[in-house]
Amino acid sequence: MHKIYYFSGTGNTLWAAKKFAAALGGAELISIARLDRAAEVDPWDAETVGFFFPVYCFGIPHIVLSFLDRIKTPGDGAKPYVYNLCTSGGMKGTASMILEDRLYDKGIRLKAAFHVPMPSNYIPLSVPPPEKRCGKLYKSAEKAILGFARDVLARKTVRPIRVFPFDLFGELVAKKAVSYMMNGYDKYFWLNENCNGCELCEKICPASNIIIMNGMPTWRGHCEQCMACLQWCPKQAIQFKQVTVGRKRYHHPDVTSGDMLSRGGEVSGGGDGPGAPSEEK
Ligand SMILES: Cc1cc2nc3c(=O)[nH]c(=O)nc-3n(C[C@H](O)[C@H](O)[C@H](O)COP(=O)(O)O)c2cc1C
Ligand code: SF4
Ligand code: SF4
Repeated sequence: MHKIYYFSGTGNTLWAAKKFAAALGGAELISIARLDRAAEVDPWDAETVGFFFPVYCFGIPHIVLSFLDRIKTPGDGAKPYVYNLCTSGGMKGTASMILEDRLYDKGIRLKAAFHVPMPSNYIPLSVPPPEKRCGKLYKSAEKAILGFARDVLARKTVRPIRVFPFDLFGELVAKKAVSYMMNGYDKYFWLNENCNGCELCEKICPASNIIIMNGMPTWRGHCEQCMACLQWCPKQAIQFKQVTVGRKRYHHPDVTSGDMLSRGGEVSGGGDGPGAPSEEK
């Protein structure tokens, strides 16, 4: 059995996980955001275990770091092949190295680290690329994923390349930047008059950071900056400072808000699509 744990804010990583699962001949997808945060995670009954997440500030999203902390140390008998795939806007930084270190501390060896560039979703800093460019990125990602899945099936070792001292320096910067962003950056969100109180932002937030009060969202100060609330709002009512006003929103076109709310599910092998539709558990 293959298991893929994924975190995704705007669908790029979920899409990649589904493609990967299909290329493996089938896999169980598990949403990190929908797991019980108080419970230990035990992936070690699988033959391969994949950790899929977007690069944040050249590092790892905070929600993924705390998920890694909850992973059970494998027992003596368990020897699964562990790998990861990062999606990014083109600059993967030291994400796989940070992951490798975290896993190593738990006695787990990261056997392979893969990366696919995708459209950047951090619209406070950049406008999403035009559709044609996105299409090209999806195509090359799909091709790369087929190759990576073959590597996993062959249990190939593909370690992250470390160049001392840039790797250590990079890891430090990435960790600092992620915590800096987490520290109350949601104070910059505001609402325009289009909000109709549909509550999608509250449901889709992977950090349970939004509550609807008097029919409107309120942010609670422990934001991941994943941009899911802003990008998926059907009314484009959520803004970040002034910079997102009038800016096109982005999410992966083959992923729906329903997929984002799913806990994961079985994806069967083969086919041209991004795998079977996710199932609620
Ligand atoms: C908070 C935040 C920080 C990001 N930092 C980086 C980065 O350092 N380098 C990069 O190439 N892309 C960065 N991105 C872009 C995402 O990694 C990229 O768009 C990813 O594919 C999004 O995946 P998702 O749709 O599954 O959430 C960042 C995005 C967010 C939301
Ligand atoms: S998703 Fe948008 S429209 Fe719906 S409650 Fe949130 S801000 Fe309002
Ligand atoms: S508040 Fe918005 S940006 Fe922050 S974690 Fe929730 S969905 Fe993501």
